Amino acid sequence: MDSILVKGGQTLSGQIPISGAKNACLTLMPAALLTSEPLTLTNAPRLSDIRTMASLLESLGCEVASLQHRRVLAISAGADLNHIADYEIVRRMRASNLVLGPLLAREGRAVVSLPGGCAIGARPMDLHLMGLEALGAKLELKDGYVHGTANGGLKGGTVDFPIVSVGATENVLMAATLAKGTTVINNAAREPEIVDLARCLRAMGAQIEGEGTSTITVQGVESLHGATYQVVSDRIELGTYMLAPAIAGGSVELLGGRRELVASFADKLEQTGVTVEDTDAGLRVTRNGERLRAVDVRTEPFPGFPTDLQAQMMALLTLAEGTSALEETIFENRFMHAPELLRMGAKIDVHGGTAKVEGVERLTGAPVMATDLRASVSLILAGLAAEGETTVARVYHLDRGYERLEEKLGGCGARIERIKG
Ligand code: UD1
Repeated sequence: MDSILVKGGQTLSGQIPISGAKNACLTLMPAALLTSEPLTLTNAPRLSDIRTMASLLESLGCEVASLQHRRVLAISAGADLNHIADYEIVRRMRASNLVLGPLLAREGRAVVSLPGGCAIGARPMDLHLMGLEALGAKLELKDGYVHGTANGGLKGGTVDFPIVSVGATENVLMAATLAKGTTVINNAAREPEIVDLARCLRAMGAQIEGEGTSTITVQGVESLHGATYQVVSDRIELGTYMLAPAIAGGSVELLGGRRELVASFADKLEQTGVTVEDTDAGLRVTRNGERLRAVDVRTEPFPGFPTDLQAQMMALLTLAEGTSALEETIFENRFMHAPELLRMGAKIDVHGGTAKVEGVERLTGAPVMATDLRASVSLILAGLAAEGETTVARVYHLDRGYERLEEKLGGCGARIERIKG
């Protein structure tokens, strides 16, 4: 298994191009199931999760062509679709459950494996099922699979989500495009991925209003058609690389970055004493020699501070002056990076959903273990600032979400290399 070796202590300078968003692309790909015409996605990130979704769609009978060095995906869900999403693929990635809504809408039936638990928490599917039932789907859980039917097709309805769920909003939004009549989704997620999905569906002929607000209204149409759509920039990759000069020192321009994608995160970053500026090509983050300041962080649905940047922010705050409190409100088990950061000299006390981080003067390199995608990259960030060498093992987690990480950071002067194992 590969690992990544980081030799810390180098300040960074240069530019990092931000790729297309993994989570947006993973949502747009299943939308292809809604039409027999091709959906072409440009600016796709080259990541293992994208290949997993392509395999799942192929197993459902789609043709997936990867063009222009895998930057462009052309997906055709022709007339003959299979409606069974097998556990073997679904268990590898939770986003697989996003085929449920489109299959029900287009085929009137779907059998989709439940994804099972994952390292960061239970991540249930009850809200997805509740939303689809409101559109008239009959759903039953059997042998670890959701068996769904929509005899006579889905019908528009009102969905009142008790809590904000990105995945459930996406599933219902896709299903509603082909349902008869009007669907209103209340307490909808407002994440940029939802906005991207709504725009793509609209390019395919769907009638949608209100994306980016907490009420989305969908007027069902008879059928959708093919389209070409550009995937939005990855806000989590953007935030992660904004933290690189913040923790290591220096100045880096994030090409394609936009502040509105990470506004609450950028505000917190500035409170630590780091500068964030708009440039013609993106965003520039600069840290002068001064000590960082502690800040309190609470993860929330968008536009709040994203749970997917909590681990990376914690790495930064281990070096800030004072004590920071990080509260995780989205997932119950998302502090697995804390014990690894302790091995590098951080002072962190986890109690339930809150981590108290007492800033230290310096971190020291150590062999550490990646436990999930965002946790792994937080250890790389910590390694950039630590004295000596940090080796991050189990980097397959990282490869699910960060494209050419060593090249992107190495291009700005970081001493980082992949060790094949
Ligand atoms: C979540 C994040 C998203 C992030 C993604 C990948 C939020 C609101 N969502 O999206 O920003 O990109 O992880 O890490 O920050 N839940 C239920 N029942 C369900 C579905 C969800 O109880 O049927 C709960 C979850 O356990 C969680 C909360 O709702 O506590 C939000 O989950 P959800 O937004 O659905 O998760 P993802 O779509 O995976």
